[in-house]
Amino acid sequence: MAVKKSTEKVSRAKKVSVEILPKKSILFVASEANPFAGTGGLADVIGSLPKALAKNGKYDVRVAIPLYQNVNADFRSQFKFLGNFNVPLAWRNQYCGIFSYKYEGVTFYFIDNEYYFKRVGLYGHGDDGERFAFFSKAVLEMLAFLDYYPDVLHAHDWQSALSVIYLKTLFAGKYGYDGIKALFTIHNIEYQGKFGFDVLGDDFGLSDDVRDIVEYDGCVNLMKGAIQVAEKFSTVSRTYANEIKDPFFAHGLSGVISDNEFKMTGILNGIDQDVYSASKDSKLFANFTATKPENKTICKAELQKMLNLPERENVPVISIITRLVSQKGLDLIKAVFEDILAEDVQVVILGTGDSEYEEYFKFIADRYEAKCRTIIAYNKDLASKIYSGSDIFLMPSKHEPCGLSQMIACKYGTVPVVRATGGLADSITAFNDENRSGGNGFKFYNYNAHEMLYVVKDAIFTFGDKKQWKKLIKNAMKTDFSWKKSACEYEILYDTILG
Ligand code: GLC
Repeated sequence: MAVKKSTEKVSRAKKVSVEILPKKSILFVASEANPFAGTGGLADVIGSLPKALAKNGKYDVRVAIPLYQNVNADFRSQFKFLGNFNVPLAWRNQYCGIFSYKYEGVTFYFIDNEYYFKRVGLYGHGDDGERFAFFSKAVLEMLAFLDYYPDVLHAHDWQSALSVIYLKTLFAGKYGYDGIKALFTIHNIEYQGKFGFDVLGDDFGLSDDVRDIVEYDGCVNLMKGAIQVAEKFSTVSRTYANEIKDPFFAHGLSGVISDNEFKMTGILNGIDQDVYSASKDSKLFANFTATKPENKTICKAELQKMLNLPERENVPVISIITRLVSQKGLDLIKAVFEDILAEDVQVVILGTGDSEYEEYFKFIADRYEAKCRTIIAYNKDLASKIYSGSDIFLMPSKHEPCGLSQMIACKYGTVPVVRATGGLADSITAFNDENRSGGNGFKFYNYNAHEMLYVVKDAIFTFGDKKQWKKLIKNAMKTDFSWKKSACEYEILYDTILG
């Protein structure tokens, strides 16, 4: 890249020429990003961390994601078509179009191929391995096409792990690619991108020479490959970084994590506090702030009305907003749910997931019609209404890399009850520890249903003490979950990678 020269006034009005170096560039590679396409926390992070970094101004930040069919048409109409080329993938030669769009200071590149991405949903297709191999390869081919070579390629989760593996194998030594460093972030170690060896040559276009890099436990493991070849890797909280050295949390990868521990960092995610804001969110029945939280009672009453629950201000509303999967600690809830419902409470569940849990929560809601509602959906507007209209947010995850819902709940004045694992341990400080005065939530420690029940009952009891509860709401709402601190930690990490 060219080096610009400029002149600057220095002391004693003497003019000297100063070199202004171009900003170093970071390219995020990920399978989802808000507000374009998302299924969960990854989309939140890719939608907000690059924005925070761009705002800091230290790095030029860009993002590459697939152009899925459900990317909103209003956005699409503003995308700029930059051109197209073919992507060689094993014996295939596939079309790839590149669109770009500058959004909130960040340039997004959209990888277009209708065969791979014009489908219902983002994932869950039989050829997901090939689809994301295409995506990863296309992103790398795009760099030569645009003559844009970032300093750091920052890939996220297994769907973009191959971009790191390709960079360090197929593209090693190639003009422009050689200097690119790689950072790989694990958002959830449970999903590793495991495949049979038949895909190595046939779908991924990788020769047997790289078998060692991706082989793990008798199959191809893309997350393992990316961890191995990236200059650094990270995960989304400090506690989780520690936990995944332990087989209980690592889903088979603890050995790989420990072997590569020297290049691992844990950085807690932030949230976009402009989006998750009780004072700004237009989806709420009424807006409120930490210092004037009175309107939260309107949110609660309207929620109860909307869900056809008795409109009672003095009954605590407990909400559970989550993917309905075992990782979220739903087995603990199942074990003691009827004990919780035996209290004077109302419970609202929102989420989709495994049919085992969907059926269970529907069954219970039918049975406890006067106090429990289950809504099987992924609905952000409704989520805002539930977050703001409830009092207690229950999140007893078995493991939780970071977790964003507990932070969102806090921002809507809803006090979380969490199990102290991963990012839940790092973001929630326990009111129920020691002197019962500070804290922004309730914590329990062991994966034990009755320990959870005890703490849920403590939260219900504390809700009855209006003065104390008001203080807790304030603490929760005032907690700083912005990207400020964490974006700086990423910058330090990029600095380290770039030497
Ligand atoms: C995954 C993790 C979640 C984390 C999110 C964003 O969804 O399960 O804990 O908050 O990624 O990093």
